[in-house]
Amino acid sequence: MNKEYQTCNKLDYLKISVTYNCNLNCRFCQQQMEKKASIAWEDFKKTIEEVTAKNKLRLVILTGGEPLVWPHLNDAIKLCKKKDVKEIGLFTNGVLLDEDKIKELKAIGVDWIRISIYGSTAEINDGFLPNPDTKSFDLIIRAIKNLKKFGFRRKVRVTIMKPNLNDVENIINKMYELEVEELDFRAFSPTNIKEIDDSYALTNDDFKKIIPRVLALKEKYKDKMRIKCLPGCYEFLFGKEMPAASSIPHCTCGKTYLGVTAEGKIRECFGVHTSLGHINKDDVNEIWEKSDTLKNIRKFEGADECSECIFLKYCKVSDCFAATFNRYGDFNHKNPLCPLDKPVTSVEEWEGWKSKFM
Ligand SMILES: C[S@@+](CC[C@H](N)C(=O)[O-])C[C@H]1O[C@@H](n2cnc3c(N)ncnc32)[C@H](O)[C@@H]1O
Ligand code: SF4
Ligand code: SF4
Repeated sequence: MNKEYQTCNKLDYLKISVTYNCNLNCRFCQQQMEKKASIAWEDFKKTIEEVTAKNKLRLVILTGGEPLVWPHLNDAIKLCKKKDVKEIGLFTNGVLLDEDKIKELKAIGVDWIRISIYGSTAEINDGFLPNPDTKSFDLIIRAIKNLKKFGFRRKVRVTIMKPNLNDVENIINKMYELEVEELDFRAFSPTNIKEIDDSYALTNDDFKKIIPRVLALKEKYKDKMRIKCLPGCYEFLFGKEMPAASSIPHCTCGKTYLGVTAEGKIRECFGVHTSLGHINKDDVNEIWEKSDTLKNIRKFEGADECSECIFLKYCKVSDCFAATFNRYGDFNHKNPLCPLDKPVTSVEEWEGWKSKFM
């Protein structure tokens, strides 16, 4: 084993977008930019065999597009099991998750399933679809209910965009009624399609209005439901006290994690549109050990303009670097998602900033 490999972090998990095909085609979906590609079975198999030969994988997440429309999904899950992957997770829109499908997934070894939803009513949720008559909302609610029935945690993701911004409290209350145990919020990321971004992207002012409201309900429901407000910076910037560094979730992109797109591109993060290599011609382990991009991510200590900020030690890795990279082409800038107008250099300055929103 060479020295670089010894010093590089352990590859702990893979997120694989197995297909860009989807049964919904939501208007805001990032993957509208990509051609409708799917991973060939041989490439999937090569990747898992290659990576597990050198790494004990803790987690493989299968996503898409919609993974439930990929014809090799069951074989992929079985292969991961055979190669001793500790945990297999699935991201899905939930529409195809009837009782038989959930039972089948449980039986072949899926450990958890995360379902996406966008509104507290059919009108809001299905309004994100090109054809709102699909009855998706009812099917998604059915899937959330079925999770518990078949021994899965109720895990839900909500992507927040302009049209559902004012529905956030209703969504949280609805998820509480449905006994959801984990609820993650994610902000819309630009697709680079102007008309979509103009209709859906949130401004920093939107974030400032919405995050304190989410955090208030997070507190209210904390005994029953774990609410996460991504990216990580929002929770501590709007929190009551300076956080303990150990309580901040760290971005794992490129450090313990790699992504593979449906076109077979290997990426440090699904939020960026570059590629480190391709699974059908490159060795994933070699990329993990030798890529200069990955080395730079691992040693990044925070942007120069953030150097005086009291949050630097929390923020430098917990925030989403993809947003910075997509805007500037490198990481060394204050993250465009940061709601601070300028870095705060003392607790007093931070309290003053917070008092305007809380
Ligand atoms: C791409 S989908 C793939 C899995 C599955 N089809 C689903 O909908 O959950 C995974 C997640 O990405 C989110 N997503 C799609 N487009 C996005 C965008 N432009 N910005 C932020 N999140 C987005 C979706 O809301 C969904 O929660
Ligand atoms: S269901 Fe998921 S993959 Fe399909 S269009 Fe919607 S967000 Fe994109
Ligand atoms: S100014 Fe920089 S370090 Fe401070 S919270 Fe914003 S992005 Fe993080």
